[in-house]
Amino acid sequence: MTSSARLRIHRSEASDSAQTFSADVQRGLSSRPKSLPPKYFYDALGSQLFEAICLLPEYYLTRAEDEILATHAEAIIDSLKVTPETVLEFGSGSATKTRWLIEVLLERGRPDLRYVPVDISTAALERSARQLLGKYPTLRIEAYASDYETALARLRTARNGSMLTLFLGSNIGNFDRDEAGRFLRAVRRALRRDDALLVGIDLKKGRELLEAAYDDALGVTAAFNLNLLARINRELDADFDPRAFRHVAIYNEALGRVELYLESARTQRVRIAALAIEVPFERGERIHTENSYKYDLDEISELARQNGFERKSTWFDRQRLFSSNLLLAI
Ligand code: AVJ
Repeated sequence: MTSSARLRIHRSEASDSAQTFSADVQRGLSSRPKSLPPKYFYDALGSQLFEAICLLPEYYLTRAEDEILATHAEAIIDSLKVTPETVLEFGSGSATKTRWLIEVLLERGRPDLRYVPVDISTAALERSARQLLGKYPTLRIEAYASDYETALARLRTARNGSMLTLFLGSNIGNFDRDEAGRFLRAVRRALRRDDALLVGIDLKKGRELLEAAYDDALGVTAAFNLNLLARINRELDADFDPRAFRHVAIYNEALGRVELYLESARTQRVRIAALAIEVPFERGERIHTENSYKYDLDEISELARQNGFERKSTWFDRQRLFSSNLLLAI
């Protein structure tokens, strides 16, 4: 079969994304403290900036997880109770690390494997699908350009065979601990007993390493964060001066999370024409743009157990910075 015959891309028109963006910006910038949802980082430029972050020496997460999957893909697949017909991945991005698992499954008697990537960035989905189909001539891809909630809602109504679900890259870190539990329960409802969820989770560690990972020397993470303001300028006809805001990354040890902010360098007013509003900022006032939660192994076991899963195995990189956790649906 040709590549295009093996690919379907579903775009969610249901949750009108342009309208959701303006409503979320309106709400976030008129609340106190101000905040913006991290899912809006990933426009075309933001997705590329994130790919660049993954290459930075300070951002160990991607490299550590790639090392784990390169080293242990066979062991991970061997630990499954059922051979999956479908691999579903939330937040698939470039899907570079996923290849280690796909290759093992294709070799182990699943040449007709179906890969279902879900990602907020249509550009990233199209790029990764094209690459995967070119590399694996029997793989079938059904891609969903949507946020997690929309994809989960679809999944609940779809009839699925045996599934391996992937949530890599510590994407789960964007949820607070209650939201992470709700997400796992929602995934569990779409699975059958003995299906698995492989979840990549960044581990708690010293402040120095964590803050450096989110505030790199080249300023790529700062650009990634500031691009949110540039995106509001582009899409909502606003007049943010990104130079008048500063990127801030702080490890909140009590809550076990890295917090990202955009801090106003001076008193200023920003006009957002599409919303017909003017947003006032005090000097030093912050917009909270992201949380990145970190876990220890006991917390991961608890998270699994309280939400319909059992933590069957965990693999680490050599430096023990990151964890890949195989959770079985019970
Ligand atoms: C894609 C959510 C896992 O929190 O580490 C990287 C995003 N933000 N640098 C993370 C991110 C700043 C990343 N996740």
